[in-house]
Amino acid sequence: MLQRLDQSCEVDLWSGREAIPREELLARVAGKQALVCLLTDTIDAAVLDAAGPSLKVVANVAVGYNNVDLASCRARGVVATNTPDVLTNACADFTWALILAVTRRLGEGERVVRAGRWAGWGLDYMLGMELRGKQLGIVGMGRIGRAVAAKAPAFGMRVAYTARRPVDVADAEHVPLDRLLAASDIVSLHCPMTDETRHLIDQKALLRMKRSAYLINTARGPVVDEAALAWALREGRMAGAALDVYEREPIVHPDLLPLENVLLIPHLASATTETRTAMADLAVSNALAVLAGRPALTPL
Ligand code: GLV
Repeated sequence: MLQRLDQSCEVDLWSGREAIPREELLARVAGKQALVCLLTDTIDAAVLDAAGPSLKVVANVAVGYNNVDLASCRARGVVATNTPDVLTNACADFTWALILAVTRRLGEGERVVRAGRWAGWGLDYMLGMELRGKQLGIVGMGRIGRAVAAKAPAFGMRVAYTARRPVDVADAEHVPLDRLLAASDIVSLHCPMTDETRHLIDQKALLRMKRSAYLINTARGPVVDEAALAWALREGRMAGAALDVYEREPIVHPDLLPLENVLLIPHLASATTETRTAMADLAVSNALAVLAGRPALTPL
């Protein structure tokens, strides 16, 4: 990737392990033509203004783009791009990993073994929930939601989903959110993070879910009210949850940390070597295309 960039551009690379500090970004973006950024970078009017009129493209290395202020990009004639498709399969696989892990209590089981607290096999020890015959409720039937739904028959699950418009997916029922929450055994979030979806899953929504149901979030943290979720999990108003994303990453709501019935994963859904390489490659291709005066491959 860097080689491809180096061949045609002068590259100013932030190579720190952590996200580039805001002040550093504001200083270093000045006068640049392209910005390849991560979901941990907030690209707002201040960053675009700091870049100045030379900036032509903001290439986000993520499919989600709630970190990029699209209106401000458009107002300045800056093309913004994301990395759809290349991560769909990794994210769908990972969603199923979370579903299986939380319903079969893998996190809890591992903690017991590692702590030396396992007293041996027991007929009714650490029982989980079987997937066969249950309903998977998918909130947001975009590329990833559809890829998750496609694997449901392998586990014997039926699928219900919410989406602005019905999509053409065999054997999946389009339902309103209230019905999906009330009838699903697993609720998996695959919607974008927007003003409409912020705290879509709040206390009221959680109380609509079955007490035996599980919530999976691989979308964006703020779609779920974490304080309300911690309350529902603690009070036994739902069976469990698996989270890959958080309201204030990398901070996790402290009320979630002591709970056994929540699986907490550090934002890894697309984290395979193959997929992260493809994401970086696509972002670079987007930046190079715009710099060369061609249309971006995946414009927003
Ligand atoms: C990851 O969260 C992404 O949006 O690509």
